[in-house]
Amino acid sequence: MKYISMFSGGIRASQVALGCMRIANLNEKEADRYVLNALENGYNYFDHADIYGGGKCEEVFGGVLRRHRDLRDRLFIQTKCGIGRGMYDFSKEHILTAVDGSLKRLGVERIDVLLLHRPDLLMEPEEVAEAFDELEKNGKVAFFGVSNHNPAQIELLQKFVRQKLAVNQMQLSITNATMISSGANVNTGNGEAVDRDGYLRDYCRLKEITIQPWSPLQHGFFDGPFLGNAKFEKLNETIRDVAKNYGMTDTGAAIAWLLRLPDRMQPVVGSVNLQRLREISVAADMSISASDWYRIYLAAGYPLP
Ligand SMILES: NC(=O)c1ccc[n+]([C@@H]2O[C@H](COP(=O)([O-])OP(=O)(O)OC[C@H]3O[C@@H](n4cnc5c(N)ncnc54)[C@H](OP(=O)(O)O)[C@@H]3O)[C@@H](O)[C@H]2O)c1
Repeated sequence: MKYISMFSGGIRASQVALGCMRIANLNEKEADRYVLNALENGYNYFDHADIYGGGKCEEVFGGVLRRHRDLRDRLFIQTKCGIGRGMYDFSKEHILTAVDGSLKRLGVERIDVLLLHRPDLLMEPEEVAEAFDELEKNGKVAFFGVSNHNPAQIELLQKFVRQKLAVNQMQLSITNATMISSGANVNTGNGEAVDRDGYLRDYCRLKEITIQPWSPLQHGFFDGPFLGNAKFEKLNETIRDVAKNYGMTDTGAAIAWLLRLPDRMQPVVGSVNLQRLREISVAADMSISASDWYRIYLAAGYPLP
């Protein structure tokens, strides 16, 4: 596993993060094994949200930390807030209350990274700034970022918030890569020319913001993995062929494709399958060639004009 520097060196994180959205139903033994195995394979960065499993995912993770007191200092915990019941909510009160809830469920004194989950259409950036200052001052949160935000939204927030927003978590996988394909189709009549994200990739490179691709193995919103899916036959054949050349598995190659991008990328994988996680950590140490990267891009159906 490779490691990347985040927050100006404040965090040395595994190149691939583990998303804990699907761990709500793990029993104690399974949860212990999941976290310990992840650490053995080099993963040290765990992504949560207050809403995952209605809070159960943070509780399950907190259980592991309570049973293994030595683990807290060996890993980074990122969580998110800002999604309320039937609304998004970046009010100061909501942010502060949400963080207290996460700290309690996780059983920790500090969250390493807090992300605002989805842009609140009624956001008052001054309130967010007050909340962040308070969280930082009382040591409850070390670093901050956003999720599902476009460049203008980040700029607006950053104008008010003192802390550098150095992470943006976005949906991105081989089959959900309009963020990438739009860059190759500028000013063409192709559907891919449509800019859906405000040229987020270029913006994040300029601002040294780490993009965290979420659901990196899924197609659609949460329609299941594209690997092994007959709907993506050509793509699967190509991934298999590329993977074979590097001694990777298909799963590993799908993540290696994201990591071949020159951007600051930290995919957030959501598997709880220990074998798959091992395959991904092995592939994270390798680099596929540019021509293999483009073969996969084309096999996914994106055009090069
Ligand atoms: N910021 C946001 O708005 C947002 C939204 C959604 C998610 N997230 C974050 O992103 C993380 C990852 O999301 P995700 O779980 O959807 O990511 P994912 O890694 O794309 O998908 C994982 C799921 O796909 C299954 N899977 C993967 N490869 C497979 C294969 N070859 N065959 C069969 N099943 C396969 C896994 O099953 P196994 O467990 O059996 O491997 C698991 O159920 C979440 O945990 C969360 O932290 C963020």
